[in-house]
Amino acid sequence: MIEIKNIVKSFNDLKVLKDISLNVNQGQKVAIIGPSGSGKSTLLRLMNGLETPDEGKVLFESKDIFESKFSLNTHRQEVGMIFQQFNLFDHLNVLENCNIGQEKVLKRSKKEATEVSLHFLDKVDMKDFAKANVNMLSGGQKQRVAIARALAMNPKVLLFDEPTSALDPQMVQEVLEVIEELAQSGLTMVIVTHEMQFAFDVADIIYFMKDGQIVEYDSPTNLLANPQKEATVQFLSKFLK
Ligand SMILES: Nc1ncnc2c1ncn2[C@@H]1O[C@H](COP(=O)(O)OP(=O)(O)OP(=O)(O)O)[C@@H](O)[C@H]1O
Ligand SMILES: [Mg+2]
Repeated sequence: MIEIKNIVKSFNDLKVLKDISLNVNQGQKVAIIGPSGSGKSTLLRLMNGLETPDEGKVLFESKDIFESKFSLNTHRQEVGMIFQQFNLFDHLNVLENCNIGQEKVLKRSKKEATEVSLHFLDKVDMKDFAKANVNMLSGGQKQRVAIARALAMNPKVLLFDEPTSALDPQMVQEVLEVIEELAQSGLTMVIVTHEMQFAFDVADIIYFMKDGQIVEYDSPTNLLANPQKEATVQFLSKFLK
């Protein structure tokens, strides 16, 4: 579904991604782990065209997303993104936040958009808050609304960039549970996370990144039981007793 081919990306003099290649198959749950600054967010942002590569290609359903005839706007409907900081509109209520993209981009009527929004708000257990002001919500509630909003756009893939790292500890679990449920629905997902247990529970494959490179990747079980590289052992040992 997504093919990352030999991506090189620098910001000024800093080479942030050094020849990265990675595939995401339909229905697959891919987790990306690694230390801060290793290039995880940049890689994720490349997948929906929020960054452009210096070298290499990103293919979505075999089409080069950076070719001039490719519509990045359409692409971003199909590849939704969930950010650490929720990115909700403060001046809109919960329902309006979920409706706006559907009405503006997908040209759904308000009635249709509302039906879809309420369906997904219900899935993330936020239907009762449909009329609530976004500012009144906890971080965990905001993130669940952000997930409902993304789902309402009927995406083919969802990209999560550390969806729980801005949350107070007691709210992490409620958001992880929603994401785990989604994972079971068969949606294709790429998740950057520091929640190691979650990555091991949900992912089909885990990529470990360091210094702009993929150090190694494997199934959760194999990566945990039999990491091949010293850097992986060191990174994992911080999280595992
Ligand atoms: N727009 C930008 N301009 C300049 N430098 C950037 C930009 N975006 C990222 N960087 C730098 O690129 C490097 C990789 O950043 P990135 O955000 O991809 O790392 P990360 O693995 O997501 O880290 P974290 O776990 O802290 O989120 C960092 O050194 C960062 O400072
Ligand atoms: Mg990041």
